[in-house]
Amino acid sequence: MTLQDKIREGKARIGVIGLGYVGLPLAVEFSKKGFDVTGFDVSASKVSDINAGRSYIGDVPAPDVAAVVAAGRLRATGDMSQVAEMDAIDICVPTPLRKTRDPDLSYVVQAVDSVKAHLRPGQLVILESTTYPGTTDEVVRPALEEKGLKAGVDFYLAFSPERVDPGNQAYTTRTIPKVVGGVNALSTRLAADLYGSIIDTVVPASSTRVAEMVKLLENTFRAVNIGLVNEIALMAHRMNIDVWEVIDAASTKPFGFMPFYPGPGLGGHCIPIDPYYLSWKARQSGFECRFIELAGHVNGSMPAYVVERISEALNTVKKAINGSRIHLFGVAYKKDVGDMRESPALDVLELLHGRGATLSYTDPHVPCLSHVDMKLSSISEGEAAGGIDCAVICTNHSVFDYPEIVARFPLVIDTRNALKGIQAGHVFRL
Ligand SMILES: NC(=O)c1ccc[n+]([C@@H]2O[C@H](COP(=O)([O-])OP(=O)(O)OC[C@H]3O[C@@H](n4cnc5c(N)ncnc54)[C@H](O)[C@@H]3O)[C@@H](O)[C@H]2O)c1
Repeated sequence: MTLQDKIREGKARIGVIGLGYVGLPLAVEFSKKGFDVTGFDVSASKVSDINAGRSYIGDVPAPDVAAVVAAGRLRATGDMSQVAEMDAIDICVPTPLRKTRDPDLSYVVQAVDSVKAHLRPGQLVILESTTYPGTTDEVVRPALEEKGLKAGVDFYLAFSPERVDPGNQAYTTRTIPKVVGGVNALSTRLAADLYGSIIDTVVPASSTRVAEMVKLLENTFRAVNIGLVNEIALMAHRMNIDVWEVIDAASTKPFGFMPFYPGPGLGGHCIPIDPYYLSWKARQSGFECRFIELAGHVNGSMPAYVVERISEALNTVKKAINGSRIHLFGVAYKKDVGDMRESPALDVLELLHGRGATLSYTDPHVPCLSHVDMKLSSISEGEAAGGIDCAVICTNHSVFDYPEIVARFPLVIDTRNALKGIQAGHVFRL
């Protein structure tokens, strides 16, 4: 039976390497469709959670994991030799930045090495980790070909960017169109067929480079537009204009405008990081990405701006940050998720801590956090109210009782327009 037949008949054995925010939903989706799926992860706790039918990702319901594990269609392992038994392998490992803002491909290289050790003819390998254009062709392909098998002929190779948006109820793995670019037409077709079995719309690209660049364009577009609107927010404050009202009114234009919103800074694993993958690669060709650097500068200065606004608010009641008790509402990087990666709340906390504030926070999605020399645990809204000088809404989770926050705290800094429509002298919006 050819790989194409196995995919079309749902008989392909699928391996997903890296069972995180991207890999787990994908593995569960394939197994729900009836495929036999093995998840590979270096984290022993993730492996044992999956094998016990537990989910550790908010968007992946535990009953879904339990059902496919009980049905014998999903299992997890740390034993990479089982890669040899797979027909298709999806690599979903992290692609962070080094401190120097250069790409850190070490996880990809390690995962590819594991695949290489067990690669056999006829397998399809797909890289999903976000990365710079050229990675599949210049890093993954030569590594896999070291065994003497040729990509596109003896095995198939493609890149497909992941667009999952944690916490988004409207768009799920199945309904988000998926871009696929292979090293040759057959690789693209096989990868497109594979995703086509679980995703409504598959968009073929002419090469791996195009598919890689698609993801970086999407995230650079967001980073730059957020940078623009953050700068507009700073400008509007100086001009005594409500930026939120301006954005809402501009959004009534039915064409040519798309709203982006200011905030305390960028967070998550994508927007603060991915554009630097692109600017790093562009620099290799002697090209300077000025928009990316500028947006990074503006967005990176937002936590300090929030602290400046807290200082101004405290000043209105003759207080200083030093010695004040400041309470954050929401520390996750975005609404209704528990993901703390690159969360701007950490920068805000660190800056306030450095200036001598006493800090606490409420975030039902983040029970505890540790950052620099701070170790904090989330307290309830009720516990927080007594003795606090200033509350800061850093993340606009749905569960917060916003009118109650306004009623109970002497000063409220709202970085997300969570208090839209509430006017009060002690409320300060970004
Ligand atoms: N989180 C998102 O919303 C999102 C969205 C789109 C794209 N991406 C991209 O997808 C990729 C994965 O991101 P994520 O958020 O799922 O990361 P994650 O940290 O949640 O998960 C990655 C998993 O890979 C495992 N891992 C690391 N090295 C491994 C190896 N050598 N072998 C097996 N397992 C290994 C880790 O233990 C972890 O469980 C990144 O490139 C990211 O930029 C993420």
